[in-house]
Amino acid sequence: MKYYITTPIYYPNSSPHIGTAYTTIAADAMARLRRMKGDEVYFLTGTDENAQKIVRTAENAGMDPHAYVDGIVDKFKAFWRALNISNDDFIRTTEERHAKVVQMIFTRLYEQGDIYKSEYQGWYCTPCETFWTENKLVDGKCPNPDCGREVELLKEESYFFRMSKYADRLLNYIKDHPEFIQPASRRNEMIKFIEGGLEDLCVSRTTFKWGIKVPFDPKHVVYVWLDALINYISALGYPDNDKYKKFWPASVHLVGKDIVRFHTIIWPIILMALDVPLPEKVFGHGWFLGKEGGKISKSKGNVQDSFELINRYGADAIRYFLLKELQYGMDGTFSEDDLVERLNSDLANDLGNFVSRTLAMVVKYRDGIVPEPGEDSDLEREIKQLSRDVKKGTEDKMLACDTAGALECVWQFVSKCNKYVDETAPWNLAKDPMNEKRLNTVLYAFVECIRILGILCAPFMPGVPDKIKPLLGNTDYFSDWEQADKWHILKPGTMIQKGEPIFPRIDVKAYLDELNAQAERSENIVQTADVMVPLKEEISIEEFAKLDLRVVKVLQAEKVEKADKLLKLEVEMGSEIRTIVSGIALHYSPEELIGKKVILVANLKPAKLRGIVSQGMILAASDNGVLEVLSVLKDIPSGAQVK
Ligand code: MSP
Repeated sequence: MKYYITTPIYYPNSSPHIGTAYTTIAADAMARLRRMKGDEVYFLTGTDENAQKIVRTAENAGMDPHAYVDGIVDKFKAFWRALNISNDDFIRTTEERHAKVVQMIFTRLYEQGDIYKSEYQGWYCTPCETFWTENKLVDGKCPNPDCGREVELLKEESYFFRMSKYADRLLNYIKDHPEFIQPASRRNEMIKFIEGGLEDLCVSRTTFKWGIKVPFDPKHVVYVWLDALINYISALGYPDNDKYKKFWPASVHLVGKDIVRFHTIIWPIILMALDVPLPEKVFGHGWFLGKEGGKISKSKGNVQDSFELINRYGADAIRYFLLKELQYGMDGTFSEDDLVERLNSDLANDLGNFVSRTLAMVVKYRDGIVPEPGEDSDLEREIKQLSRDVKKGTEDKMLACDTAGALECVWQFVSKCNKYVDETAPWNLAKDPMNEKRLNTVLYAFVECIRILGILCAPFMPGVPDKIKPLLGNTDYFSDWEQADKWHILKPGTMIQKGEPIFPRIDVKAYLDELNAQAERSENIVQTADVMVPLKEEISIEEFAKLDLRVVKVLQAEKVEKADKLLKLEVEMGSEIRTIVSGIALHYSPEELIGKKVILVANLKPAKLRGIVSQGMILAASDNGVLEVLSVLKDIPSGAQVK
């Protein structure tokens, strides 16, 4: 089967944040599950770059919009990598492959009479990139309940898309295809909206230059939503690329509730006008709200540094929390306290503890060697039946885009596993040699449960199989979903390891104490270097001024293969991302560096180290085998100069 799933393309007017992460993580979990089921999957995400608000933000920052956008797009890509997102493609609407399809479609719609030229008079909301008629405004402001900001009066020559012509056809389609818009509440909203009458949509602007030009009338640029929606087919090479023929129509467009209207009214009408089949489903999920209410968004100033959160708690824990928190179609709240609580209870306690305590028993009672099981009792028959129900239930929930429901299903199995340990009480069986066979059966079932849990968790937390694999003899049991309800897969005789807990408990108090202690320690150190290296020759202030030192923030860090001392870092310097190779691997683990602000010699000529171009050098102090990278204690923004 083929499966094509998309996320919205994000506006790169500001860095990605935890609120924007939900859709991409959910799409990733769905894509991973389908791949594990053997489907041919195409998973697309990207950035929506031709919006007017991007030019405004760049101008306010005193930057060229291209350079500004490039910097933010790099951050999106780094963010998705840090969250283990497995997208097959990343489309940018400033790419030629996209622009040429938009121009071709605009021309075709014009030639067939679905786009016509007229004059627009009305109001434009730049944050929402939406046109409004006077009577829709609320107190003269944007009527979108989440916005309410100032709108601008527009009077310009414009092209219009004949939406009205397709209104009845669309309405019939939505009524005949209940699965097209989900959840049902959003479907009803859309039906009401269309029944209220569709006006033709203004689809070009003349007052600014940023965007894709109307090919036959280049003083116009294409309206950003018309341009953006087309990404779902331009990325596949519409109209004649094989990828397009194979993967279109999309299986699901996953979007936030705020943009369901664009995806279920404007987009299907464009497709109808082009005589192209409609996507099978548009699913509109709820929002993440901050603790004090209100959507988490950059403009509300309630976002936390998402890279730091990933660094502190790990991608798996963040993914788990977000996927579990948004109940089907509803809003949810994000707070670090709740995240820690979930991590400690569901991941460290329920899942992690089951793995550690059962493996410890295999080590204790059978020297770590997985025994050959004997006859099943009712308890084994019950847990085996549950594995079949859970596998099927999880698949069904994911088909319905219900990530929280799917994880609840998986956790039924986790709870059952813990209950099975209590019911079988292996510590009692071990007391009597008569029970040897029974104990073998139970211990074998434990290890099989861990294998199955590795599979069930893999779409949601792709790091879990990596953590479990070395414990179960380094065999990859986790990439085939169909094996989640099969038993007797793991070979008796396999040597297992007790290992470290797969999700260590977070002791928040200890974490904060350690931070304070570190700060104190660094204040109290009064020492002299063991061997004082002779001072170098004097230089002038002008010579020193040639050095361009900058504060940079480490976004990603990883070991360089076959080089013990080298780490490859991705650092953020203002809106730019650089790759740095640094010889500090013996002193820092990659995790310790992520999120740290360090000092970069930014104008050092790039040099190639182990085939990687290093764009600068990180400063560090060292003496007698001790090394510490230089950092800043206050929250100085990345890109700031050090002088
Ligand atoms: N560029 C358009 C989409 C074009 S798709 C052809 C856009 N971009 S956006 O960056 O503003 O938002 C992208 C998605 O992120 C939206 O679906 C939005 O709902 C989602 N989210 C942004 N903040 C969010 C939360 N706080 N919570 C959940 N989703 C959130 O709209």
